[in-house]
Amino acid sequence: MSGSEHTQASDTSARPAGPRLWAISDLHVGYDANQAAVEALSARPGDWLICCGDVGETLAQLRTTFDVLTDRFARVIWVPGNHELWTHPRDTESAARGEARYAALVEAARLYGVLTPEDPYPVFAGHTLVPMFLGYDYSWAPAEVSNVIGWAQEHGIHPADERFLHSDPHPDKAAWCAARIAQTAARLAEVEGPTVLINHYPLRRDLVRLHRIPRFVPWCGSAATEDWHVRFRAKVCVYGHLHMRATDWRDGVRFEEVAVGYPRHWQVERGLDSYLREILPGADVAASDGDGGPEWHW
Ligand SMILES: [Fe+2]
Ligand SMILES: [Fe+2]
Repeated sequence: MSGSEHTQASDTSARPAGPRLWAISDLHVGYDANQAAVEALSARPGDWLICCGDVGETLAQLRTTFDVLTDRFARVIWVPGNHELWTHPRDTESAARGEARYAALVEAARLYGVLTPEDPYPVFAGHTLVPMFLGYDYSWAPAEVSNVIGWAQEHGIHPADERFLHSDPHPDKAAWCAARIAQTAARLAEVEGPTVLINHYPLRRDLVRLHRIPRFVPWCGSAATEDWHVRFRAKVCVYGHLHMRATDWRDGVRFEEVAVGYPRHWQVERGLDSYLREILPGADVAASDGDGGPEWHW
């Protein structure tokens, strides 16, 4: 559906003045074209930016990106994607795994004053912004599948996470996900009023349109968050990971997939400014499904 790119015009001159909350994700700055595009982003000195994961694979890439984004926006909020969480040979700076890897990412964010899921939730225009790190737990696999990795391999799907994303000290990624979900739900139970829920992965299975690689779906979220948009009074849910930008509505709640993706997943010549999605105050937004690149993500 690349002929009908889901982008948002950055010309907001006809709109009332005031700070705006924008979102983007999956910058994947390991690609030179993406890195150059991040550096070319325009400054929006009064506005805030949500950056929901898959900035890159190394701590150095993360710091470089935070350096640019915090220069362009008044405040930056980040949540980790699977790529940052990898213990990858490309990152010669750190071989930390699992929780220790996540802690190193949070430390990098704090060097730049970037807010993470470990910080108090900020408030923007009366909405509590909730950066979350939840992970996935394979619960979106069919119930009869007992070996989800083998089941995916039957279709030639070998997610890189299974080589590079470790869960130490948790016994496996599903256990880590369960711990994160319990901890985040407990924090959310203390929040009053409307929220913006921010996660690398979609909160609902029905937002995942991977028709050509359906056996990748278990690496995309958890059945435990299916009702969180209602339960925690979300105005908007923001996510990435699928590299298929979309706007969906469920129960009156707006879901925004804001992933840029690899260079083949977006129109590089347009620049990244037109890929910033306004979350708040939010224009009148119609549903738009599944724009973006090929359904291929590992
Ligand atoms: Fe990604
Ligand atoms: Fe991802």
